[in-house]
Amino acid sequence: MGKIVKNIAELVGHTPLFEFVNYEKENDLKATILGKLEYFNPSGSVKDRAALNMILAAERDGLLKPGDTIVENTSGNTGIGLAAFAASRGYKLTVFLEPGQSVERQTMLKAYGATLKFLPEAPGVAEALQNGTFSTEFYQEALQKYCDEQPTRHYFINQLANPANPGVHYEHTGPEIWEDADGKVDIIVSAPGTAGTITGLAKFFREKNPDVKIVAVQADKESRAGVGENPQTIDGIAPFGDEGFPDALKAPFIVGFDYDECIDVKGEDAYAAGRQIARADGVFLGQSAGAAIYAATLLAKRQENAGKNIVAILADNGMKYLSTNMYME
Ligand SMILES: Cc1ncc(COP(=O)(O)O)c(C=O)c1O
Repeated sequence: MGKIVKNIAELVGHTPLFEFVNYEKENDLKATILGKLEYFNPSGSVKDRAALNMILAAERDGLLKPGDTIVENTSGNTGIGLAAFAASRGYKLTVFLEPGQSVERQTMLKAYGATLKFLPEAPGVAEALQNGTFSTEFYQEALQKYCDEQPTRHYFINQLANPANPGVHYEHTGPEIWEDADGKVDIIVSAPGTAGTITGLAKFFREKNPDVKIVAVQADKESRAGVGENPQTIDGIAPFGDEGFPDALKAPFIVGFDYDECIDVKGEDAYAAGRQIARADGVFLGQSAGAAIYAATLLAKRQENAGKNIVAILADNGMKYLSTNMYME
């Protein structure tokens, strides 16, 4: 194509919209499942979009200067994206990881030169976890405090409250899907973590098609990170519509968010859907992507959805989950 790429920022977005034709046939589906293959982004996940957009916004606003340190709390993929862009743009990165991250994610972060810490290392977090006062608001304040206490410039990029996170999906991911699907998008299926993806897409698609259905996918209670020693968890996502889960622990973007349905998926069903997709269509998916496919399949089997286009956001691929039960069997 006669185009030499000089910066990984040029490789973000324009990911393929893929129809799983063999999987549809195997499952006798009467609806179309279109997967947005977000692992085509340069560090391998949907979070490259938010990571780059948040950095660009901070650069525009004069909040980041070369040599500064970016700080973030992340379940892994945002950190990996930030680490890649920080490396290529001359920033340092410190990430505070939530417990229960796969070994591959931690190894990747180190490869890009990031400094790894665990969330309980942030000021006051260990105590708050112990005495039950921990909340998303609390740890956002704790990370801001951590930045303020450092002797050099540290910038808390804060994907949980940063409008550049959902904004990038409204401005780019949504329009890409709309264009590739020729404007026929009936249902969006997305497994939220910060909910940047689902809230940005919901805003875009509700403007385009008032009848669109926005479906969130969450791990069922037994398949959540941090729940016992259960190895069949779905990494990278957070409880969404669960009434029993306190708002104070939910991602702020989803509190009060208007969605049509939330589907609970068991880890074992997400894993099985991912394995089936690998064998049917040769696409190798991660855990939340497997969950999105499983939920999309349930929707595709409903009579009322025959003939509809169901778009599933597939956040990453299976490479970071090789050591988990998804692909170890
Ligand atoms: C594997 C995976 N799936 C889904 C998500 C959710 O994306 P969002 O934060 O935009 O809701 C994440 C976020 O980190 C993720 O890592």
